[in-house]
Amino acid sequence: MTGETTGQTDFARLVGITVPIVQAPMVGPKAPLAAAVSAAGGLGSLACAALTPDQIRAEVAEIRRRTDAPFNLNFFCHEPPAPDAGREAAWRRALTPFYEELGLAPETPVTMANRMPFDDAMADLVAELRPRVVSLHFGLPTEPLLRRVRAAGCLILSSATTVREARWLAERGVDAVIAQGAEAGGHRGMFLTDAAASQVGTVALVPQIADAVDVPVIAAGGIADPRGVAAAFALGASAVQVGTAFLRCPEAGISAPYRAALSAARDEDTVLTNVLTGRPARSLLTRAVRELGPLSALAPAFPSAAPALQPLRIAAEAQGSGDFSPLWSGQAVGLSRERAAAELTCLLAGGVPK
Ligand SMILES: Cc1cc2nc3c(=O)[nH]c(=O)nc-3n(C[C@H](O)[C@H](O)[C@H](O)COP(=O)(O)O)c2cc1C
Repeated sequence: MTGETTGQTDFARLVGITVPIVQAPMVGPKAPLAAAVSAAGGLGSLACAALTPDQIRAEVAEIRRRTDAPFNLNFFCHEPPAPDAGREAAWRRALTPFYEELGLAPETPVTMANRMPFDDAMADLVAELRPRVVSLHFGLPTEPLLRRVRAAGCLILSSATTVREARWLAERGVDAVIAQGAEAGGHRGMFLTDAAASQVGTVALVPQIADAVDVPVIAAGGIADPRGVAAAFALGASAVQVGTAFLRCPEAGISAPYRAALSAARDEDTVLTNVLTGRPARSLLTRAVRELGPLSALAPAFPSAAPALQPLRIAAEAQGSGDFSPLWSGQAVGLSRERAAAELTCLLAGGVPK
């Protein structure tokens, strides 16, 4: 796949959108953001990993009330970890000083919707809702599940963080590969490697993946303005997926501490950490990340590190602090501004070659 020469790229044609800009699926933002981006001609996305089927139904109904343009439903494909009481107890012990500081009992009950992998129930839901696109993170589900997504008429995308992962995805028939560079906010989509230290940057990754696969490549990671979009297309991308910059749109609906932290953040304020969920992800350097990690051998396997942090997060957020919140952010956060999602989609489209 070579660089695209018109705004109507292979990816845009495949999906039926007019602007080859994908709003990254992000746990947190919901229908208002996805619908605004899709209505502006891009591809809006809804992150479903932490939502119940009924919540997903309600969000999809809301998207469809706002626009009839295509949108993307996104799921995780991780292997749920076997329970490991010893490791979880050690993790709780590491968090004890924070519990004491915030006046929380060690056995504070945890209620949270943790991330669930794509399964039969979600395949039923996809067949019922029939989104134009389903995107996956952490590889792909089993072949029978994947067949069900295809049978529902959905295009299938998944993230690759290396050329090897991109080839693996292409061999299994994905319609496009998201090349997720190390600059990206949120979880690394890595699934054939767990080597956080060797994760590849977007400028190096996109052309190597574009050379390796025959399907359109979507560049992701550290792209926040038309210059980044133009660079991605020059490197062989057919579309661009943007996360962090869309978080700052009012339609994203993120918490006040998160919004304030993003607006103050600069290039050197993000770090790859596994302490918030158990998997490497790029977050703002919060107190929890600094004092527990950024990478810790104590963190239980994904997503089991998150529940024990939840009471700390709730107590800190009640005091207006994001010290224990997952403040996912990419390295280009300093380029982002508060602006409406349609305006940002249009601004980013300015970087697409004509
Ligand atoms: C707040 C946040 C949450 C994210 N959650 C998801 C998710 O649920 N599913 C997913 O596939 N990617 C997720 N990502 C990663 C994005 O898909 C994308 O790779 C990344 O945002 C691109 O880099 P950027 O943030 O520098 O634009 C998330 C990213 C952020 C910033």
